Amino acid sequence: MGLKKMERSSNRSGNDPALQISLGPLKLQNPVMAASGTFGYGEEYADLFPVKKLGAFVTKGLSFAPRKGNPPPRVAETPAGMLNAIGLENVGLKAFLREKLPRLRKLGCPILVNIFGNTIEEYGEMAKGLEGVEGVAGLEVNISCPNLKAGGSLFAADPRSVYLVTTRVRQATSAFFMVKLSPNVADIAKIAQAAEEAGANAVSLINTLLGLAIDVRTRTPVLANITGGLSGPAIKPVGLAMVWKVAQAVKIPVVGMGGIVSPEDALEYLIAGATAVEVGSAHFIDPRAPLKIIEGIRKYLQIHGLAHISALVGSLKTK
Ligand SMILES: Cc1cc2nc3c(=O)[nH]c(=O)nc-3n(C[C@H](O)[C@H](O)[C@H](O)COP(=O)(O)O)c2cc1C
Repeated sequence: MGLKKMERSSNRSGNDPALQISLGPLKLQNPVMAASGTFGYGEEYADLFPVKKLGAFVTKGLSFAPRKGNPPPRVAETPAGMLNAIGLENVGLKAFLREKLPRLRKLGCPILVNIFGNTIEEYGEMAKGLEGVEGVAGLEVNISCPNLKAGGSLFAADPRSVYLVTTRVRQATSAFFMVKLSPNVADIAKIAQAAEEAGANAVSLINTLLGLAIDVRTRTPVLANITGGLSGPAIKPVGLAMVWKVAQAVKIPVVGMGGIVSPEDALEYLIAGATAVEVGSAHFIDPRAPLKIIEGIRKYLQIHGLAHISALVGSLKTK
């Protein structure tokens, strides 16, 4: 599609009532968001397309103190995907508020800040520090990090620690927040229920799957961190199965992601039960992927005579 034509159609879809969705108290113009860590701070993409056409965008993970991240190599290509071990590099809360947020506000798109902490208390501090801040539409709480006080096991792996983190964030903020779940767990439905019980407005899933790539010539890991997180089309069936399970286990909205590169991928997630979707690794192949996905969903609704996207959510026929 030519650039001009595409711009016109994405303008149309930007104001299409058929695409408007609610994630609890948060209203979005369409269900397509840019996933954390794959869209920088938004401004990197501002020259490529009007970021304000997105339903929302999620920032790179943010912690209280700045973090340097892992040494290189930090990314590796895999069949139908990629491994990354960036190590949650970020500028820290103070510099984010001072340097990044003023520019982010100008993008004209709802901003969800992805937060994480080393302790439950730190999650609370982060939520408090972003409470009522102009331009922050809400939070995505990444629980795929080690709980340092509990010997380093992932917060995401245990319903009890998910309950405690979520409770702390709920106490610290009245803003919208969703808890981002890890697929590296035994029963993701139980984890989602713990987040719901503790007051999360929504859950988002999936984060990356634990992976390893080895250079057989040197018998060394390809990534300096040894293991990394697998993302991209390779993980789509896993994400879909988990979204489908979680959507049946909770009443709060589910935001689906994992391997979405085309409108059809996004439609699969919606049909599986996601109210909205996030696009991640696809940005590295085609930065305009989210716009094409928004447009593709709009066309699908038209072709199938559906007045509103809600008719699609959770419409999987299993009999
Ligand atoms: C390079 C890279 C960095 C990421 N950084 C974060 C992050 O800071 N916080 C987070 O919650 N998820 C992070 N993710 C995970 C993505 O947001 C997303 O959950 C995952 O990649 C699956 O979606 P995809 O297959 O569409 O990429 C990162 C993913 C990639 C590829």
